Amino acid sequence: MNILLINCSPVRNGATAEIIKTVHSFLERSHQIHNICIDDYEIHYCKGCRSCHQTAKCIQKDDVQTIIAEFEWADSIVCVSPSYWADVPGQFKAFIDRCTPWCNTHEPHEKLSAGKKGYAIALRTGPNMRECHRIIESIEHFYGHMEISPSGNLGLCSIAYKDDVDGRKQEIEAFCDLIQSLT
Ligand SMILES: Cc1cc2nc3c(=O)[nH]c(=O)nc-3n(C[C@H](O)[C@H](O)[C@H](O)COP(=O)(O)O)c2cc1C
Repeated sequence: MNILLINCSPVRNGATAEIIKTVHSFLERSHQIHNICIDDYEIHYCKGCRSCHQTAKCIQKDDVQTIIAEFEWADSIVCVSPSYWADVPGQFKAFIDRCTPWCNTHEPHEKLSAGKKGYAIALRTGPNMRECHRIIESIEHFYGHMEISPSGNLGLCSIAYKDDVDGRKQEIEAFCDLIQSLT
């Protein structure tokens, strides 16, 4: 199976990247993995012009199609997102907004191949899991309209820096077991 891991944080070597490393080393034993960081791409903001509602195409030219090609390659997608003000980081939100040509609420719309599974991992510094669930909800809402089946999620509180991930490897690997059992 092909699995795409997305670092939804603009930090390439922070706590989110550390979680992705753990997921990567677990799943690479039996799957092909692509690893991307949202900050490696040029993503312009959606202008809200809605021309994609008529054409299923965006008027802007940047790296969104390149990321979508990674989605198309993948059978499963794992978005790993920190909380930035109790939501996904702006760079990732900008990408979600630009996926409107693929959004299934209007016709015509672009389509990814059917049968993809989506997983979400949210992390935050604070202790309350409700905020992680809010981020997971944003990611799963996105999956739903892209017709990617939300298939599992994990919230990790009390993580500020990458060293905090050390003590959480068991939780992360247990989640990888779930991904493994469903792929
Ligand atoms: C701009 C910004 C906003 C943040 N907002 C929150 C927040 O609202 N709640 C929270 O629990 N942690 C918040 N954090 C902490 C991050 O979620 C946490 O440090 C995470 O581990 C960062 O991962 P990263 O280094 O991979 O980006 C924020 C961090 C930044 C940089």
